[in-house]
Amino acid sequence: LYTYFLPDVKLENHKYYFVVDTLRASTTMATLISVGAESVSITDDPDTAIQIKNMDNNVVLVGERGGLKITGFDFSNSPTEILRNANQVKDKKVILCTTNGSKAFLKANDMGITISLSLINLKSAIQYVLSKKIDDIGIVCSGTDGYVSLEDVFTAGRFLSILSKQDICYFNDEAYIALNMANIPHTRIFQYSLHAQKLKKLGLEKDLKMSFNEGLLNVVPISKAKTNEFKPKI
Ligand code: MLT
Repeated sequence: LYTYFLPDVKLENHKYYFVVDTLRASTTMATLISVGAESVSITDDPDTAIQIKNMDNNVVLVGERGGLKITGFDFSNSPTEILRNANQVKDKKVILCTTNGSKAFLKANDMGITISLSLINLKSAIQYVLSKKIDDIGIVCSGTDGYVSLEDVFTAGRFLSILSKQDICYFNDEAYIALNMANIPHTRIFQYSLHAQKLKKLGLEKDLKMSFNEGLLNVVPISKAKTNEFKPKI
């Protein structure tokens, strides 16, 4: 179980990559799949997303720059906004374009099967790992603008703390560090995370509360390697 605190490093080859952007891309991804989006594809270029939508009216654009909705997009990268507008997302092909999470998703999916991991789908992701006996995992944290994010390492740690009780027990150094954060109260992470504070200033407290609600949703968004198309697990 390798953990990478940032995506911009040399990732080892793994069969499965679990991409974490707790605030908020992987949380939004879980929410999109839970409200019935047909698929979620990733881009980090808003213009590309808008061009695709212009050619296909079954496409819905979700994304942020500076934490806020991108001009020309349908929704912001906000899990609570997606929940409120669930009927406009159901059965749609979603393109998700965010600042940091998108880069991590794209890099990981280029290398292997990719699963979106957040606190809200942590339990389902663990059940998936155990039911499929998956033992070759790289957890890729998105970070923020090249800096390590407390909430991503915490989510990795929560995931590892349960899996470490199983037989999957080779860890790299970052995995051990993350594991040591697993018992810090969620409220403390919520309080100290810089990105959480930024979202709070933007009035996005509801997103924060939802993002820290561990086990809220029973979904495992998964994409085959190199396809960049996240769907519910089968
Ligand atoms: C990102 O990818 O940078 C984010 O998920 C930022 C956010 O919307 O909170």
